[in-house]
Amino acid sequence: MKSYVTTPIYYVNGSPHIGHAHTSVMADILMRNRAALGYDCKLTTGCDEHGQKNQEAAEKAGLEPAEYLRQRSGEFQRVFDMLDVNYDFFVHTSRPFHKEQVARAEAKLYDAGLIIQKQYRGLYCTGCEQFKKPSDLNDENRCQDHPNIDVEELDELNYFLRIEPYRQRLLQHIEDNPGFVKPAKYVKELKQMLEEPLEDLCISRPKRRVSLGVELPFDTDYVTYVWFDALINYLTNLGWPEEDYQPWWSTVEHLIGKDILKTHGVYWPIMLMAMEETLPRQLSVHGHWVGAGGLKMSKTLGNVVDPVEVVDQLGADALRYYMARNMRTDSDSQISIDLIRQAYNSELGNKLGNLLSRAGKFTSSKYDGCVTEPGALQPEDEALRAEVLAAAQGFAKHFEMSDIPTLVRQLVDACDQLNEYFAAQAPWGLIKDPATEERCRTVLYVTLDCLRLVLESFRQIIPTSADRALAMLGTEFDDNTVWAPQLSALKAGAPLGEIETLFPRITE
Ligand code: MSP
Repeated sequence: MKSYVTTPIYYVNGSPHIGHAHTSVMADILMRNRAALGYDCKLTTGCDEHGQKNQEAAEKAGLEPAEYLRQRSGEFQRVFDMLDVNYDFFVHTSRPFHKEQVARAEAKLYDAGLIIQKQYRGLYCTGCEQFKKPSDLNDENRCQDHPNIDVEELDELNYFLRIEPYRQRLLQHIEDNPGFVKPAKYVKELKQMLEEPLEDLCISRPKRRVSLGVELPFDTDYVTYVWFDALINYLTNLGWPEEDYQPWWSTVEHLIGKDILKTHGVYWPIMLMAMEETLPRQLSVHGHWVGAGGLKMSKTLGNVVDPVEVVDQLGADALRYYMARNMRTDSDSQISIDLIRQAYNSELGNKLGNLLSRAGKFTSSKYDGCVTEPGALQPEDEALRAEVLAAAQGFAKHFEMSDIPTLVRQLVDACDQLNEYFAAQAPWGLIKDPATEERCRTVLYVTLDCLRLVLESFRQIIPTSADRALAMLGTEFDDNTVWAPQLSALKAGAPLGEIETLFPRITE
């Protein structure tokens, strides 16, 4: 079975921020989940390199656009590499093949009479790269998502795709496919967007204003509107239309932030209908990160979380863990370097790393560094094992992006149970008396074996740390087999690796 997961392609008018990191890391987590279930996977992420705001950023930096794009896209790629995002394809919309296919698609739509030319007068937000209606603006006449940028008044001759004729068909599609948008709260939002007739979608920008883009095949005075060009990346990444893209395309799942639901839930499906392509299988939507206290992150407030700084201070897995554990579906979620550090120390460090260290070192010093041979299991052992197995099983199923926080919490709860068990059983006391020594071996075995199962599950969330920890337990993981969580897979008598501190405590 195949699974094709995409992230938005990000504008390169600034450095990658926590929101960009989030969607790409979530996509990576989904892919690791699907790969563990034996799917053949493809993950794409990358950069949206055209449009007015990238062009203005290049001008401000005093660089030729091509050089600017090279530098900035390189920066995004390095950050995703740093975060262990295991993408199969890194998108650059300046890639010639992509540009050729965008132009080809436009020529086809134009020849079919679906693109018209007309004068457009209206307001434009460069932040969104979208035209706005007065009702979209706040009291200061600015766009809700970009309250720091003035909207521009434009009066231009442009090309348009008529999208209203497709509205009912799209509504019907949403009705017939309840899984098209997840979670359900965004289905409602999408339907609201489709309640009113849709205005024609402007698909061009005059070159005298914006030159960074794909030239229109039927009028060289224009480039393609950046969104029209960017959305098509999801197809060109598969070699569309020349290569055998359909087996992948039919499985596609687009991960997006809630800010771009309209472009992905309205414009993109309609573009696909006009191009006579099948619609995406699923849109998976997440909310936004805001600063601690619920404040929007901003340079002025000094509460922007820089992914590179987090990785430098706490490591990639601290960030991956925090994002996976704390994104809410009902509202925006808070993030700050302090919150990430706290979660790293108190959850990864105290609940997981310390237990591994204590049980591992105890086994190393008292049992020659080899996994102990357990005796008969007691009801408290069985109860713990059942709980850990249940938490692990969540990772052996095909999960959705919105399930991730709950699944991670279940694993952390299982770690709490493990810690309580270890403290209550107190193997350091049991070893002193020959009558209870066998019980000591059982407790150590059960603890390490349960930890192994927790770590095998955590490979989908914090892959580097989980693999390091599994090596300490002397186990190797075969990525070529389908993962099935099992108890008692740790071999008694097998040597442990060197037990190191997995998550060293980090204070400010
Ligand atoms: N270039 C377009 C997308 C084109 S896709 C064909 C774009 N780029 S963007 O750089 O603005 O990135 C938007 C995406 O970044 C959001 O949809 C989301 O995935 C992520 N995030 C941006 N800010 C975010 C938060 N504060 N929190 C979480 N993710 C957010 O739109």
